[in-house]
Amino acid sequence: MKGRWVFLIAGLFFIASCSSQDKKTENTLASIKDTKVLQYAIEGKNLYEAYCANCHQKDGTGLGKLIPPLNPSDYMAADVGRTARIIKYGQSGEIIVNGQIYNQAMPGNPRLTNLEIARIMTYIYNIWGNQEGVIDANQVEAFLKEMD
Ligand code: HEC
Repeated sequence: MKGRWVFLIAGLFFIASCSSQDKKTENTLASIKDTKVLQYAIEGKNLYEAYCANCHQKDGTGLGKLIPPLNPSDYMAADVGRTARIIKYGQSGEIIVNGQIYNQAMPGNPRLTNLEIARIMTYIYNIWGNQEGVIDANQVEAFLKEMD
C-alpha cells in the first residue's frame, strides 16, 4: 500500500516540474526592449490570459481545427484594425488562417474598454515574432469606426 503512495507523489512532482518548465518558455515579454511597449504588454498579457487564452491558448497556438492560432497567424498579421473589431464585436463565418479553414463563432467583448483592447493588442502584436510597437486607445477607437 505504502509503495503506491510513493509512486503517486513522485508522479505529482513530475507533472508539477513539467508544467513549471512550460511557463518559462511561454514568457516572451523578456524580448521586448521598448519601455512603453513593455508597460502595455505586461497588462495586455494579464488581459489576454483572462479573455483569450481559454480558446487561443496561453501560447497562442489555438486548438486543432476549432480555434485558429494567433501564433503565428497570417490573418492577424494582414490587418491590425480588423483584430480590434474581432476583439470588440466577435467574429463568425468562414475564415482562412495559415491555409486552414475555420468556421466557429467567436463571442465579442463589448465591455472591454479601448485601452484594454489596446493593451491586449500591444501584447499579441509584440510577441510570437511580431514587432508592431505600441497600439494605443486612440488607434483602437479609430479602428472600431472603420468597416471591413
Ligand atoms: C470562446 C473562444 C474564443 C475566445 C475567448 C476568443 N476567441 Fe478569438 N477566435 C475564436 C474562434 C472560434 C475564431 C474563428 C472565428 C471564425 O471561424 O470565423 C477566432 C478568431 C480570432 C482571430 C482571427 C483569426 C486568427 O487566428 O488570426 C483573432 C485575431 C482572434 N480570434 C483574437 C482573439 C483575442 C485577442 C481574444 C481575446 C480578447 C479572443 N480571440 C478570444 C475563439 C475565441
